[in-house]
Amino acid sequence: MQILVTGGTGYIGSHTVVELQNQGYDVVIVDNLSNSQIEVLDNIEKITGIRPAFEQFDLSERDKTDAFFKKYNNISAIIHFAAFKAVGESVQKSLEYYRNNLVSLMNLLEGMKKYSVPHMVFSSSCTVYGQPDVLPVTEETPRKEAESPYGNTKAICEDIMRDYCKSNEDINCIALRYFNPIGAHETALIGELPVGVPNNLVPFITQTAAGLREELSIFGDNYNTEDGTAVRDYINVVDLAKAHVVAIDRMLKEKQKANYEYFNVGTGEGYSVMQLVKAFIEVNKVDLKYKVVGRRSGDIEKIWADTTYGNKELGWKAEKTIEETLSSAWKWEKKVRGL
Ligand code: UD1
Repeated sequence: MQILVTGGTGYIGSHTVVELQNQGYDVVIVDNLSNSQIEVLDNIEKITGIRPAFEQFDLSERDKTDAFFKKYNNISAIIHFAAFKAVGESVQKSLEYYRNNLVSLMNLLEGMKKYSVPHMVFSSSCTVYGQPDVLPVTEETPRKEAESPYGNTKAICEDIMRDYCKSNEDINCIALRYFNPIGAHETALIGELPVGVPNNLVPFITQTAAGLREELSIFGDNYNTEDGTAVRDYINVVDLAKAHVVAIDRMLKEKQKANYEYFNVGTGEGYSVMQLVKAFIEVNKVDLKYKVVGRRSGDIEKIWADTTYGNKELGWKAEKTIEETLSSAWKWEKKVRGL
């Protein structure tokens, strides 16, 4: 049973490939390597003993996507990660974001229809909820208008899948709305490797602890939260990867309640930036210079998931503790920097 993982050399993609292989799935990766390295394949192989098949091309190219489906004619399901994902950059490069993220999805859906590949799991985000009026957020929580073109591509991609599934009974999609994925594989062979200055909190923390960055800036301490810093639901990347395998199983075993479904994938617990920083220092026994600065524009105050529905329907639950996760993030950073 072959699974196509687009963006499979990326951060969440690579961890998902490992979990798929651990469950006996045969994997083919498509990635254009725009934000990842080919060496990830070696490290996946070191972990699982199996080297996934790999094709390098851009899924927004329709002809190449079509040729791919012609060549790989035994694919049972797709997990679609390949997309641009930087919130700030998406404001500057909105057309690139729309073209890349929307067209890739449409090309894949077209290929699914033409080549009879019935199932797709899509990488969505809790960003579709904006700042929710009521917390925690369930799948019933209304979506809000996106704060950035990046966020809007996630909302539009969800709508494209919903509409396409409505008129195509032979196509099944599940959107997983991730909260904040962090951490790395316990072997420290794969993890998050941002290019340039990290935008996200945990890579910034680990790079600061490793001496690459002078100091962490905490964006805002006057939010309406317990300690004034913003609150998120941080989910371990391996737990998140396992949620994808479970979603694939759900579709292959025809357990879906409708041919388009969406689930929150979080832990159900909120941590403030300050709590996370302090936990990182304590767990890893490292020094970390930080200072509080003004809010980052576009940030929401707080969000965390109600995972009841996803836990029940998928039979999946986040298992790792925040301590384990922050320790894995630091182990990975040290390995990458040779510390
Ligand atoms: C956002 C999106 C998420 C998207 C991700 C991609 C929301 C709710 N989430 O996550 O869907 O996948 O971007 O980049 O829209 N922080 C600092 N200092 C730093 C970096 C971050 O204090 O140097 C703070 C932020 O202000 C925020 C928290 O840490 O409160 C988490 O930030 P980050 O890791 O960037 O993720 P989100 O912005 O939550």
